[in-house]
Amino acid sequence: MKKIGVLTGGGDCPGLNATIRAVVRKGIKDYNYKVYGIREGWHGLIEGMVEELNMHSVSGILPRGGTILGTSRTNPFGPDNKGDPEKILENIRELDLHAIVAIGGDDTQGVAYKLFEMGVNVIGIPKTIDNDILCTDYTFGFDTAVNIVMEAIDRLHTTAESHNRVMVVEVMGRHAGWIATFAGIAGGADVIMIPEKPVDMENVYQSIIRRHDGGKKFSIVVVSEGVKIPVEDQEKEGFILQSANKDAFGHVMLGGVGAVLANLIEKRTGFETRYTVLGHTQRGGTPTAFDRILSTRFGIAAIESIHKGEFGKIVVLEGNEIVPVDIKGIIGQNKTVDNYWYDIAKVFFA
Ligand code: F6P
Repeated sequence: MKKIGVLTGGGDCPGLNATIRAVVRKGIKDYNYKVYGIREGWHGLIEGMVEELNMHSVSGILPRGGTILGTSRTNPFGPDNKGDPEKILENIRELDLHAIVAIGGDDTQGVAYKLFEMGVNVIGIPKTIDNDILCTDYTFGFDTAVNIVMEAIDRLHTTAESHNRVMVVEVMGRHAGWIATFAGIAGGADVIMIPEKPVDMENVYQSIIRRHDGGKKFSIVVVSEGVKIPVEDQEKEGFILQSANKDAFGHVMLGGVGAVLANLIEKRTGFETRYTVLGHTQRGGTPTAFDRILSTRFGIAAIESIHKGEFGKIVVLEGNEIVPVDIKGIIGQNKTVDNYWYDIAKVFFA
């Protein structure tokens, strides 16, 4: 009876539990694997924090947000590690794990690939609300986040209109503007600002003024957290950060651009402006049907890959097919918003 481990790493997102459920059920039912849940991402494999998962432990978790395994942004290959990769190898040996299913974004997959190079049988599953993983048309979690933002925009529309206000909505996404673009299209935003497109503040002001002059006394501006905008004297330009700290993978902690932008818009246009930061609400709660189905398909495909002995791969969505591709080809790069999508959004700008 082969033993396999499954872990969730990085920021959580809706659909993680649906994936774990699919891995466990498919693994046990079709291949008689023993499945172990590894707690809190790579941290759990360093410390040997595992528990056996069975049909009972994954019953009822399909609609649940978060992850029953817990997660962390632990980087075993980070500069401060104390022999963590060796501890991981030792634990895998001791637990007799034939393969590890690593559910996570670019950072988690980067670690998975390094372990693969050290001889570990890994298979990756792409998750993130940011939808910024190369080679996959969609990651799970993204659709749910887009729906949450869309609903927020719908709600902001009614209050914006009642008060003749400009509403700035700050959304997540790191250095990719997928959430802003998709939710902006779905919610009918008047301006969408994403990291992929250089900011022209004068253009933003003029769009809002034009709309106002045309009789619409309110506007919705969706801004992605990774947008760099000119601040204060209009000369300095850079990310707006919530803290000077970086995470274990060296990422800056974005947040706050909405407030800065709202202030600039109000000052320059004279229109009353408010901002809303949706923050971690975008990562919480139950997954949409799309995300439940995608994560279920990913989980099943990962088990099929293990059965076939295909390792060092990540299962991705290509069109309507789930296929395994080399993890090496997707790490260290971001999938960013292309003109196809932004041009669609632009048709509806003010
Ligand atoms: O990668 C997912 C994400 O939600 C990003 O959109 C965001 O910048 C970041 O994680 C927030 O991280 P944390 O949960 O550590 O605040």
